[in-house]
Amino acid sequence: MRGRLRAAWAALEGDGPAVDARVWPRDLCAAFPGPRRLVEAWTGEGAAFARYATAHGPLFLKYVPLTWHDPRACARLERETAYLRDLAPLAPVLHAPFLHAAARAPHAHLLTRDLTDTTTGWGAFSSDPEREAGLRDVVRLLARLHAFWAGPDGHGHPALTGAWAWRPGDVIGRAQRMAARPQDYGVAAPVIADIAAALPELLAAPQPVTLVHGDIHAGQVLWPLGGGPPVLIDYGQTHPSVPGEDLAHLLAVRLDAAERENLGPALREVYREERARHGVPVSGRALAAEERAGLALNVLTTVRQARRTRGSGVQQALDQVLEVWAEGSPRNTR
Ligand SMILES: Nc1ncnc2c1ncn2[C@@H]1O[C@H](COP(=O)(O)OP(=O)(O)O)[C@@H](O)[C@H]1O
Ligand SMILES: [Mg+2]
Repeated sequence: MRGRLRAAWAALEGDGPAVDARVWPRDLCAAFPGPRRLVEAWTGEGAAFARYATAHGPLFLKYVPLTWHDPRACARLERETAYLRDLAPLAPVLHAPFLHAAARAPHAHLLTRDLTDTTTGWGAFSSDPEREAGLRDVVRLLARLHAFWAGPDGHGHPALTGAWAWRPGDVIGRAQRMAARPQDYGVAAPVIADIAAALPELLAAPQPVTLVHGDIHAGQVLWPLGGGPPVLIDYGQTHPSVPGEDLAHLLAVRLDAAERENLGPALREVYREERARHGVPVSGRALAAEERAGLALNVLTTVRQARRTRGSGVQQALDQVLEVWAEGSPRNTR
């Protein structure tokens, strides 16, 4: 409560991150002076959003509301800010340009260009062929992102240092700590044990080191109305990893079994073609190995998420990713 009062006080004083769509802190007003009209505001599950018409053009604000105490939401915004500000301008993947940010845990805001009037989202696709073409665009974006951040030697772009450096030992250590607490993970515990044991080898296999989006699905892409390359958004989970993490997330966590079966093979081919075009080719067989390593990482993430949130969407995602993992296990394929 003290933190909330302090945040409310700071907001009234005009310092720090925005915590409300209508009241802008002083530094934001100073950076974007003049009249602004609030066009639309809504609260999502992981952040709140507001759109403005201003003399500086259309602006899009993503923030943690005053009444929330959600350190994870704040951390996601800070990560997205760091990516958009420091790394995204280097990469050949379109993003909503960074304009302003502030953070004081557990609050943070991020201001970008509002692309609503110039783009359309996944929801606008009304037929299966349109949606399938949309998914091909999504995997092409992933291929370009992965190829670029793999860097010239495939071991990670030189800009991936500090917090952006790949530390497989940390990922393995975390899996081993999960495996040491089977009582926390119920029916998933044996799978976690398998994955913790297999992970050192899965991660040591030859594959690029890159940056992954971390939460990829069709809702994270905006398509320009006049055509042209799509825009990838929502970098709150972006992190260094192996590329299979994104591909497995899209195919095993976000698509259902029928979609995976019907669309998976073609999407993998589109991904391979685009990655080769951007200088990081991968054979079909090597891609299957990349995807398996990425699936292991997704099982761990989804298990952790399901433990934090009881939401039915997460539980369903967990059932699904566990099923896909089991389908590919040696005991089932022998
Ligand atoms: N810069 C932007 N311009 C226009 N719309 C945006 C922009 N950023 C996000 N959106 C819209 O807001 C939605 C939620 O934003 P997103 O960053 O994906 O947050 P969440 O973590 O809640 O998914 C997106 O699905 C998209 O429709
Ligand atoms: Mg999103």
